[in-house]
Amino acid sequence: MYRLIKQEGRAKRGEFTTVHGVIQTPVFMNVGTVAAIKGAVSTADLEQIGTQVELSNTYHLHVRPGDRIIKQMGGLHKFMSWNKPILTDSGGFQVFSLAGLRKIKEEGVTFRSHIDGHKIFMGPEESMQIQSNLGSTIAMAFDECAPSKADRMYVQNSVERTTRWLQRCQAEMKRLNSLEDTVNPHQLLFGINQGAIYEDIRIEHAKRIAEMDLDGYAVGGLAVGETHEEMYHILDEVVPYLPVNKPTYLMGVGTPANILEGVERGVDFFDCVYPTRNGRHGHLYTNHGKINLFNAKYELDGRPIEEGCNCPACQRYSRAYIRHLLKAKEMLGMRLCVLHNLYFYNTMMTEIRDALDAGRFAEYKKQKLDSMATPLE
Ligand code: GUN
Ligand code: ZN
Repeated sequence: MYRLIKQEGRAKRGEFTTVHGVIQTPVFMNVGTVAAIKGAVSTADLEQIGTQVELSNTYHLHVRPGDRIIKQMGGLHKFMSWNKPILTDSGGFQVFSLAGLRKIKEEGVTFRSHIDGHKIFMGPEESMQIQSNLGSTIAMAFDECAPSKADRMYVQNSVERTTRWLQRCQAEMKRLNSLEDTVNPHQLLFGINQGAIYEDIRIEHAKRIAEMDLDGYAVGGLAVGETHEEMYHILDEVVPYLPVNKPTYLMGVGTPANILEGVERGVDFFDCVYPTRNGRHGHLYTNHGKINLFNAKYELDGRPIEEGCNCPACQRYSRAYIRHLLKAKEMLGMRLCVLHNLYFYNTMMTEIRDALDAGRFAEYKKQKLDSMATPLE
């Protein structure tokens, strides 16, 4: 159940109640593709850094260890010891971005595993069955994310098929949720808007799926090669056609600036590998822009990554020490950097919600963007 608490322009402050707890939105979901946050971050750490929702992937968990094993272990929440909400992506996007040799038909997609090359078939029913075995809080519809440069005809056909797949997802989810041994009989389903950069196709599709009474609506197929301006423009055009009383999710986005722009355009949910991936490479987010700890100027820097940050890294360690750990390829180095970056994202989301509550989001957004564009040194 989504409750719209407040609006400022199109920006939404919401509250999404699930069987695994309440999600305050806007929210950033911390990405744990294979049911692990890369950088040796545990679910206990996630609790400490204020994570509300963890995100995992259907495709990866189906390939390894296998969704049946996870079901036998009591579902994904129990398996990874995380009792707050989990959203699982459907496999659609990962199949198109990762797996080799794929063939798309009306029934679904045949592709080869990125682990051992064996042939796998996944369609809407399979994706729902896997996500049902995982028992995630929110399942994503099985979609095709067409390449941003795909021609109009291809995108039109692809989107029509994605709509038919969504109807099949909805029917299959309903069936699975009513079975006796279902891990999470209250599993929710989000539909995904597609249409590449063709506004009219996107809008038609948004109208179509908005009628389907889903639990939430995602905008997919963005941050795949188009410019930031094109992405913001698509959001301007599409979000008004998605139900305001349901959560809106911008998939795979993005930088702190992208998130602020997304919130302004009515987005509730975000996810992105940037904080984890950048952290593992020593790239750290601060309120004065990104810093690269591999830079020699931090060799004797006794300050925390960011002055005043309450994350587990900044409360205890210096830039010089963490730089040393990174250079020595010690796992602790990556871990501390990822913890800081996720804390930075989670804290920004808290600030965004507080600003929305106080009716001063526009002011906050400007101040945050200005500050991040002004390096300290
Ligand atoms: N993650 C980022 N973009 C997408 C998308 O278009 N579809 C799905 N399923 N996942 C995504
Ligand atoms: Zn920190």
